[in-house]
Parts: sequence; C-alpha cells; structure tokens
Amino acid sequence: IKKVTTHQLQEMKNRGEKISMLTAYDFSMAGILDKAGIDVILVGDSASNVMAGNETTLPITLDQMIYHATSVIKAVDRAFVIVDIPFGSYQGNSSEALRSAIRIMKESGAHGVKMEGGSEIKESVIRILSAGVPVMGHLGLTPQSIFKFGTYTVRAKEEQEAKKLLSDAKLLEDCGCFGIVLEKIPSELASRVAEEVSIPVIGIGAGPHVDGQVLVVHDMLGITQEFKPRFLRQYADLNESITQAVGNYIKDVKGKSFPNESESY
Ligand code: KIV
Ligand code: NA
Repeated sequence: IKKVTTHQLQEMKNRGEKISMLTAYDFSMAGILDKAGIDVILVGDSASNVMAGNETTLPITLDQMIYHATSVIKAVDRAFVIVDIPFGSYQGNSSEALRSAIRIMKESGAHGVKMEGGSEIKESVIRILSAGVPVMGHLGLTPQSIFKFGTYTVRAKEEQEAKKLLSDAKLLEDCGCFGIVLEKIPSELASRVAEEVSIPVIGIGAGPHVDGQVLVVHDMLGITQEFKPRFLRQYADLNESITQAVGNYIKDVKGKSFPNESESY
C-alpha cells in the first residue's frame, strides 16, 4: 500500500481531488478508517470530549494524546496521521512547543502535528517546522480558546476577524505549514482562504469550497447524541445499533438462551 504523504495531499489540492479526513483515537477504529481508504486521520484533542467525557478540549494532557496516537498509529498502513498538540503544551513558549511536538513524533510514530492559532503561535510553528515536523494550522473556531470566545457559534462573521483569519492563513502558509483546518466559519470566507493559499485547506463547518473535509468520527457515526450542529452529516446511527445489540444480549443472558450448546465447550 502506498502511504499518503504531505506531498500527495498537495497534489490532491492541485488536481482538485477533495481530501477525506476523520478523527480516530484508538486502534480498532483507526484500522477500520484506514482500510476504508480515508486519506488523513486526526488524533484530535476532541478525544477530551469523546473519549474522556470532558466538556472542553482543555483538560487532555500531552501524555494522554500520545497514548491515543500510539494506539492509532499501530493500526494504520496508508493514511497520513496528524496529532493535535494539546492546550497548555505549546502556547507562549516555542521551546516547550518543540519539545511537545518531538515527544508526539518520537513516542507515537505520528506523521505530523496540528496547532490552533495564527500570528500568536508563529514562533512555535516555525521552530517545530525547522525540526522537520510537518505542521497543520487550525483557524476559525479553535476550541482550545473557547473561554475567550464564550460560545461555540460561527467565527469570523465580522470584517475584522475575517481579515485576521485570512492573514493568519497566509502567515501559516509562509511559515511552511502543509495544510490548514478551518472550523465553523462562513462558507464564502473559507472559499476565499482556499483560493488565496496554495496549501490544502480542510473544512469542518466551512462549506464545500475548500480542499477537503473533516468530521469527528463519533459524531458522523451517530455514537454521540447531544452534539448535532448544522454542519454535521450523520452517516450511521451506531448509538441505536449498539443499544439494540446490548438489549438483545441482556435479554439472551437473562432468558438463558445465551450461550447455547454450539457456543459451549
Ligand atoms: O480535535 C478535533 O477533532 C479537531 C477537528 C474537529 C478538526 O480538531
Ligand atoms: Na482539535
């Protein structure tokens, strides 16, 4: 199997082939996504919500991210695997940022990292890139700054924030990032960013005129229930399927029909 590289992601943008990306946090799920042919797997800090049950992405630690990434990498033969650098392990300190990125790469075997922010984290981005680690940017609704925003509503609807986002995107490209995630911003602005930077732009709630799409896998499979923003398309109802399967199992155990003779030694 030919592995996906940053070079190939760039070629996909150049020829207009959309890039498919999903999150994964564990070995079993990552194996399914990779065999299904997903281009990019993100070990997102959304693991904090989806795996650990926290309300925000802030509590997850670097060690926990490395644990998830290590499990994912073991299952993947083809996809490009990116790991979120978690809150508190890169902002405001480029040498700590580099140390965090190097730990992720060394201990998990991941292929690249993702970081939230633009000009604020420029030094850290440059320093990590100079160590040879591919960096993906993340602009728009950046959940690690949720307490600054105060709400999970659409970002960059106002002129000033839109301008900063566009200049941050260009800055990240100039620094040498291989791609940028745009989260929950107007479709028109996302389209403009994808046009004005040459690197791949992956959207989540950023409309169709970008170079690829990413979703949280538990959301698109219908495992999570409460989280149903407009941008989420649900491709399965695994919550329903699992609830039914578990209900049937309980019924069979209680009713003594499981295990039967052929299921026994
Ligand atoms: O952590 C995550 O799942 C993400 C995606 C939503 C882009 O950063
Ligand atoms: Na994230």
